[in-house]
Amino acid sequence: MTTTRSVVLGYGAYLPERIVTNAELTKTVDTSDEWIVQRTGIRQRHIAADGEYTSHLGIKAAQAAIANAGIDAQSIDLIVLATSTPDNTFPATAVQIQEALGIHHGAAFDVQAVCSGFIFALATADNFLKSGAFKRALVIGAETFSRILDWNDRTTCVLFGDGAGAVVLDAQQQPGSSADRGVLTTHLRSDGRHKDKLFVDGGPSTTQTAGHLRMEGREVFKHAVGMITDVIVDAFNATGTTADDIDWLVPHQANKRIIDASAKKLHIAPEKVVLTVDEHGNTSAASIPLALAVAAADGRIKKGDLVMLEAMGGGFTWGSALLRW
Ligand code: ACO
Repeated sequence: MTTTRSVVLGYGAYLPERIVTNAELTKTVDTSDEWIVQRTGIRQRHIAADGEYTSHLGIKAAQAAIANAGIDAQSIDLIVLATSTPDNTFPATAVQIQEALGIHHGAAFDVQAVCSGFIFALATADNFLKSGAFKRALVIGAETFSRILDWNDRTTCVLFGDGAGAVVLDAQQQPGSSADRGVLTTHLRSDGRHKDKLFVDGGPSTTQTAGHLRMEGREVFKHAVGMITDVIVDAFNATGTTADDIDWLVPHQANKRIIDASAKKLHIAPEKVVLTVDEHGNTSAASIPLALAVAAADGRIKKGDLVMLEAMGGGFTWGSALLRW
């Protein structure tokens, strides 16, 4: 019996032009390149220009993904955007992107799960495609975290950056085994007991301002590796696969130490891990599709490769997705 799978047809990414190096940050906060690189692996981040919004980054990533897929944008009937930094409180930034792409049919909406947003958006789109409700989805992660950072707080401002990435998913019939192409399994989790460890201290209903990101970094670190490895093991168990079967681990790019520790715990070889955090810092929901785009463009991720995606972030939320490219 065949089954419907969400197959990646194309990918795209966009980083704003302006690069802020660690050295540049030392001019405004008491930090050093050495401290940032050693604790996080981050060397630079991209920052959106004045008047450049999350939707603008998302549109560029979406256009690149559509071009890479070689499809007509009109064939897309679902747009799911993962973001915690929407242009406006409403409408959904996904609708701004839908309009810019000239798509006036189907549905477009935002998903908010902070750094896990891309996994949540991918799982949402995958389930809609599997149900038959939609045929072709654009899944985007786009963020302008620079707008919610307290640039005087060295414990947070050095960690994040702006960017966007996207994939086109196509509903296709596959034989129905773990050898299928497409999304094989997704696992989403959240636990609001941790909501005060990483949050933004503003919002429309509370302060009527966007607010600033606040984080207990050590607490996040303490929980990250266990949560990430749990959902990856869930994905292995659901598909009968093991760490040896994985061609690539494409993690949320928050912090090299978290990524290294998770890969080590799972016995995933370091050369199978895609790392881009040095180039753009933590871009929250955008980081996984940004990393996917780099590794697919440079020829590492090839058709038929087994790719594990994982993320953990504010809420806490965490999740994994296993797919065959
Ligand atoms: N430059 C220099 N010194 C700093 C900086 C900085 N940018 N930031 C903090 N410090 C200082 C602290 O003030 C502290 O000084 P003290 O000992 O005199 O008090 C010292 O460095 C150690 O601070 P810690 O917070 O204990 O440093 P730690 O080793 O835990 O590293 C970090 C901090 C990098 C934030 C780490 O906890 C971490 O990686 N946490 C995970 C956070 C994360 O990745 N969040 C992203 C969002 S969630 C996600 O995407 C998974």
